[in-house]
Amino acid sequence: MILLTGATGPTGSHVLKHMVAAGLKVRAFVQREASVHAALAAGAVETIRGDLHSPADVVRALEGIEQVYFIAPRFLDTEVAITRGMIEAARTAGVGHFIYHSVYHAQLDAILHHRDKRICEAALFDSLLPYTVLQPTMYMQSTTRDWRDIVQAGRYAVPYSTEQRMTVVDLEDVGAAAAVVAGTTDFRGGCYELASGEQLSRAQMASVMTDVLGRPVNAVRSDLAAWQAHQRSVGVLTEAQIERMSVMMRHYDEAGMGGGNGRVFGMILGRAPHRYRDHIEAMAKLRPQG
Ligand SMILES: NC(=O)c1ccc[n+]([C@@H]2O[C@H](COP(=O)([O-])OP(=O)(O)OC[C@H]3O[C@@H](n4cnc5c(N)ncnc54)[C@H](OP(=O)(O)O)[C@@H]3O)[C@@H](O)[C@H]2O)c1
Repeated sequence: MILLTGATGPTGSHVLKHMVAAGLKVRAFVQREASVHAALAAGAVETIRGDLHSPADVVRALEGIEQVYFIAPRFLDTEVAITRGMIEAARTAGVGHFIYHSVYHAQLDAILHHRDKRICEAALFDSLLPYTVLQPTMYMQSTTRDWRDIVQAGRYAVPYSTEQRMTVVDLEDVGAAAAVVAGTTDFRGGCYELASGEQLSRAQMASVMTDVLGRPVNAVRSDLAAWQAHQRSVGVLTEAQIERMSVMMRHYDEAGMGGGNGRVFGMILGRAPHRYRDHIEAMAKLRPQG
């Protein structure tokens, strides 16, 4: 049995889908009642409702577990504490394999959740638990979150540069790689960057969108202060999450997030990673009207 945290988030739902398709038995760790139903509907064999901040919930979640696939909720100030708590509890419980969903270029201390994941990777190595670390870069799906605006207004607007190059990865590929790493022993003990190998500026992404949709899409650098004000008015993100995301976007604005090579990732997948165009074609097919 695999314990999968964050099983109903954007990342976890892709990981769960591919693990279920591979015939793996998953216990989903979620927080809300609605997520329990969502995880079962997606094929989780068991669910556990709890809070990753609660040591008792974590110990309960680990009962009878052979592997952990740990996904931290995004942009939390408590990320190091909850990840360390899970690692320590997994060690005590005698878990056989800890797969850590980290991040591409965890060495980038300027981006707070990258720094936190670097600290957590070190804690995992020091725990002596058998491990695999996956380091996905920016999901292609993050670039199409405002698909309606892209299709209907021809605007791809976020508050950072249109020209800095970004390395991207398809979440479908991330989920597929997660299932391989959990379902075989072939890649255990490694740290793997999950990047398609393709670096694109947002202007280049908009050009792919234009080509696939057959209508103009322009990359726009929107105002960060306006984005922050909008988030505060919506009220879903905490102030700490807004600050962490702002730090990340300022960094993207100044330096992008380039590099990346898809060859080793392709070895895990057993095929070449998807290209950005593949993702945009899939979006256009799924939601042609936006
Ligand atoms: N976006 C990217 O491009 C990218 C790239 C690389 C790595 N990452 C990393 O991927 C990770 C996941 O991101 P995401 O956006 O998929 O996550 P997310 O939306 O924050 O995760 C939501 C999931 O976590 C559960 N959850 C939230 N708080 C919880 C708590 N206190 N206790 C137990 N469960 C809790 C939620 O359950 P409920 O719904 O029941 O609350 C839900 O299943 C992050 O660490 C992020 O840094 C992201």
